[in-house]
Amino acid sequence: MTMTKKFLPFHLPEIGREEKKEVMNCLDSGWLTMGPRVKDFEEAFRAHSGARHAIAVSSCTAALHLSLVALGVKPGDEVLTTPYTFAATANAIIHCGAKPVFVDIDRETYNIDPARLEEKITRRTKGILVVHFGGHPCDMDAINAVARRRRLFVVEDAAHALGARYRGRKVGTLGDAGCFSFYATKNITTGEGGMITTRSAAAAEKMRVYLLHGINKDAWKRYSRQGSWKYDVVFPGFKYNMADIQAAMGVPQLKKLPAMAAACKKHVAFYNAAFAGCPELTLPTVKPWAEPSWHLYPVLLGLEKLKIGRDEFIEKMKQAGIGCSVHFIPFHRHSFYRKAYGLKAKDYPNCEYVYSRTVSLPLYSRMKKSDAARVAAAVKAIIAGNRR
Ligand SMILES: Cc1ncc(COP(=O)(O)O)c(C=O)c1O
Repeated sequence: MTMTKKFLPFHLPEIGREEKKEVMNCLDSGWLTMGPRVKDFEEAFRAHSGARHAIAVSSCTAALHLSLVALGVKPGDEVLTTPYTFAATANAIIHCGAKPVFVDIDRETYNIDPARLEEKITRRTKGILVVHFGGHPCDMDAINAVARRRRLFVVEDAAHALGARYRGRKVGTLGDAGCFSFYATKNITTGEGGMITTRSAAAAEKMRVYLLHGINKDAWKRYSRQGSWKYDVVFPGFKYNMADIQAAMGVPQLKKLPAMAAACKKHVAFYNAAFAGCPELTLPTVKPWAEPSWHLYPVLLGLEKLKIGRDEFIEKMKQAGIGCSVHFIPFHRHSFYRKAYGLKAKDYPNCEYVYSRTVSLPLYSRMKKSDAARVAAAVKAIIAGNRR
């Protein structure tokens, strides 16, 4: 296949006039860092999420770390998590001096398998950090039941899942803290950025202090008319605040979320119909209790029916001018985690099965129907040319 058409990237953010106007207004205002726009974005996000508190931060990675610190994770503790996620999830645990303990996924949703949690719990286990993979919610009732029984906290890594619902309830409000990402490829973007949601006033208060060097209340106001130069450091905190330039994009992005999510859902329906008769592909499953946010569209290749492997498939898609990706390279395949925690592929068979077959196809609101049709045609042509 030769590259005749324009390259279709794996992702493009949807940035319009509203975002540009708000960012320009922010630049003109003279207040660039954390300030009134961060407050407005937090309030809009809080109202949208249904959470009691929303705290804006510099990334989802910062949100995860801050949540774990605020929930009291200390050196020597263990936190259960999924092996099928981005490095940030486990790194947040490690940066608390704690140990990530990986629990295999289920083969349908690629989320942590609640039935395997108990066997990994020890005296040192403090909590469970789940990831709503690709925007499909985890089985939160089953996870929360284990957490309640064993007195563990639950943090939701909702980096992919803004707007997703579990049994009608928004993700990010189902555990002790929810962590969202506004990285360039996510459901909404501020370039870089993140948000923590929580129902606990005490945790929210702690997070607000810890996110800005551990300075006591409203430190961000210290250069404004209402502020004072005097402050006290009550904890050696972090520099995890969001800036007003980022928050300026966040408010219009949040308003656009329903339209962007609807566009992605249409592309998903198109892909599902286009691939319905393809025995070489396993399509994403949606559990009856789930309303996914469709951050990703991962398909599994039936390698037994094909002459090529997953990596070659992605290379052929690239030759056809289409960007694909793989979510995720599991922890037992990264040198650091393999060595530090003695991880072995045989201990994570479902994760290994999914990883070796998965391809994430382009899925974003800026794609046109003709783009989705082009992706589907390329996938089918590669399969047709490489059947065993
Ligand atoms: C599951 C998951 N968690 C956390 C993160 C980290 O997000 P951020 O880049 O906002 O720190 C990512 C980023 O891709 C992710 O995929």
